[in-house]
Amino acid sequence: MQKGSEDGFVLKPGQSAQSPLVQRVLLPADSDDHMPPVGKPQLTVAEIALLKWWVDAGAPETNTLGQLQPVSEISAIPATK
Ligand code: HEM
Repeated sequence: MQKGSEDGFVLKPGQSAQSPLVQRVLLPADSDDHMPPVGKPQLTVAEIALLKWWVDAGAPETNTLGQLQPVSEISAIPATK
């Protein structure tokens, strides 16, 4: 994800608003670039919040959630199996 693709970067650690990884899931569902594509399981509001928080936290690769001490809204998100 750090390397991105031929279309450029998809992730800017610390800047979720400039990261296509986040921008695309926030696009209206009827947009061609919305992710995941229509008809595929969509991210929940909590998953989008977690993704935004993780990118803004610098997209850490190894730290546990506990180590990163997220805000209560994020630590309240139940871990999925
Ligand atoms: C079932 C789930 C998904 C499918 C089938 C899927 C499929 C695709 C396909 C076919 C592309 C290339 C065409 C295009 O650029 O529009 C793409 C690109 C992309 N997808 Fe998804 N996607 C899924 C989920 C997601 C999710 C959850 C995210 C974000 C968290 C995401 C973020 C992106 C991004 C940022 C690109 C552009 C990558 C680039 O610049 O090369 N996708 N996806």
